[in-house]
Amino acid sequence: MKLKALLAASLAALSLSAFAQAPIVIKFSHVVATDTPKGQAAERFKELAEKATKGRVKVEVYPNSQLYKDKEELEALQLGAVQMLAPSLAKFGPLGVKEFEVFDLPYIFPSKAALYAVTEGPIGKGLLKKLESKGITGLAYWDNGFKIMSANKPLVSPADFKGQKMRIQSSKVLEAQMRALGANPQVLAFSEVYQALQTGVVDGTENPPSNMYTQKMHEVQKHLTVSNHGYLGYAVIVNKKFWDGLPADIRSALEGAMRDATTYEKAIAERDNNIALDNIKKAGKTQIYVPNAKDVAEWKKVLLPVHKQMEDRIGKDLIAAIAKETAGK
Ligand code: LMR
Repeated sequence: MKLKALLAASLAALSLSAFAQAPIVIKFSHVVATDTPKGQAAERFKELAEKATKGRVKVEVYPNSQLYKDKEELEALQLGAVQMLAPSLAKFGPLGVKEFEVFDLPYIFPSKAALYAVTEGPIGKGLLKKLESKGITGLAYWDNGFKIMSANKPLVSPADFKGQKMRIQSSKVLEAQMRALGANPQVLAFSEVYQALQTGVVDGTENPPSNMYTQKMHEVQKHLTVSNHGYLGYAVIVNKKFWDGLPADIRSALEGAMRDATTYEKAIAERDNNIALDNIKKAGKTQIYVPNAKDVAEWKKVLLPVHKQMEDRIGKDLIAAIAKETAGK
């Protein structure tokens, strides 16, 4: 009897210590290649988080839609099947937080300084707060950059878009943008874009160069315009219940790791996109067009009315607040 009790006690102690040592696992799912600003920053976060928590946290990064595609990953986060994501800001509409689509408005950020004034200031923080009612905590904004347009025909003036089937993310603002250009927008998950371009399901698309290059889209697109007409960035988000349930010391170590990973991400975003555009040039399969001032004026004339058109969906006040925050930047 005594022996039995002793055995039971030592077994309990053993399993307790095993429990104490079992790391907390953060599954971080995303849809782009590892060799992109987001992909590299996810890896950097893993490294920093595991170090800062002395191995008490294990971060498993799943790139390239390995686990989930665009819409599914948001559902998986809410269900707790994964703990961390960094979806593009253009993908929060279907979740019911339409305000994030403000980031998709054409030409809304005249520069990176203007963008950061929004993402790092009260507007950005206020938007992340809106996610809480959806069971999501927003931790940071990550950057990618300004988008370029591609197709199998030159896209120089807005008239060139007429009737072109253009792949977009699931954002009503992007839909309105493509319609304003006379194109036919088609929502597709990121993982499906290359094949859709290759087989002609769609004619063209928009994305920053690094996403185009790492998915080899340039191999199936004959023309590309460095239009920089719109922005693509991310919100790093976690399942709120999971995050709130973490021991306080772990949570604050992870917050520190996220801060450092974010600084790193912002430092590499522009550089990586410039390199990607160069690589597309070198690959020699795509003709690259840089719009002149006259082209830009034409694009703006057609695209800026989208701001007004989307006021009811996004909120007039939010659009005005961004205009105020970014003025002169
Ligand atoms: C896209 O779907 O085009 C992008 O949002 C992918 C990404 O996450 O950068």
